[in-house]
Amino acid sequence: MSTENPLKNPFLNALPDLAKLRETVWRELANATGDTNQPWFLGSFGSLGESSPEIRTLVLRRVEVGSRSLIWHSDVRSPKFSQLERAGETSVHFWTPTHRVQLVVRGESQTLSSGELVDQEWKSSQLTSRRAYLGKMPPGAKADAMTVNFPTEFETRPPTDAESQAGKENFGVISTVVQEMDLLILRQTGNVRAMYRWNDHDLANQQWEETWICP
Ligand SMILES: Cc1cc2nc3c(=O)[nH]c(=O)nc-3n(C[C@H](O)[C@H](O)[C@H](O)COP(=O)(O)O)c2cc1C
Repeated sequence: MSTENPLKNPFLNALPDLAKLRETVWRELANATGDTNQPWFLGSFGSLGESSPEIRTLVLRRVEVGSRSLIWHSDVRSPKFSQLERAGETSVHFWTPTHRVQLVVRGESQTLSSGELVDQEWKSSQLTSRRAYLGKMPPGAKADAMTVNFPTEFETRPPTDAESQAGKENFGVISTVVQEMDLLILRQTGNVRAMYRWNDHDLANQQWEETWICP
């Protein structure tokens, strides 16, 4: 259900202050992690395929506001992982039906298959989620018959921590540094749209450049 009540809608509440609106975006992104009830828990993640843009749903795992980074989990054997290794340009789309707000972020993604961050993300991952990394075949590979692509015993119970460790070598992290945020707020009185660009040309004065644009 939509709400036009500014008290219940943090985006409307921030208008017309662009800086306050930007802080709201980052707070809502951070609040969405770990909470399946939050619409921004899921993003439509776009990467550059060989001949067309490719999108898929990913769980937003963590947000590092200071470094403007969005953290995602992926099988290192998946097409998206190699696409991002080839070209890091990324777009992510989020939509909040309750607040009627669309956020499109653009940025540069880095893929990580080992190291401290990968270890930390693996540790924080759920045992049921780790089943996805226990498949013999890479995601997207042709299968002879219907398959969950993990050992069948884990269809009815999660792996133990020890059993899940075999999947660690297939587990990777995608870290997207946000360079641009395009925020569209739908309102009965008229829609409004804000654009934020991270200015990294002037190293001594890195900051968000923000402006209203026509919706
Ligand atoms: C609700 C939902 C959440 C998903 N979360 C993830 C995720 O966090 N990481 C992931 O790699 N795939 C996730 N997937 C699967 C991807 O959308 C995609 O099908 C898979 O990663 C293969 O993508 P690729 O072939 O483009 O590499 C999710 C799918 C759905 C429907």
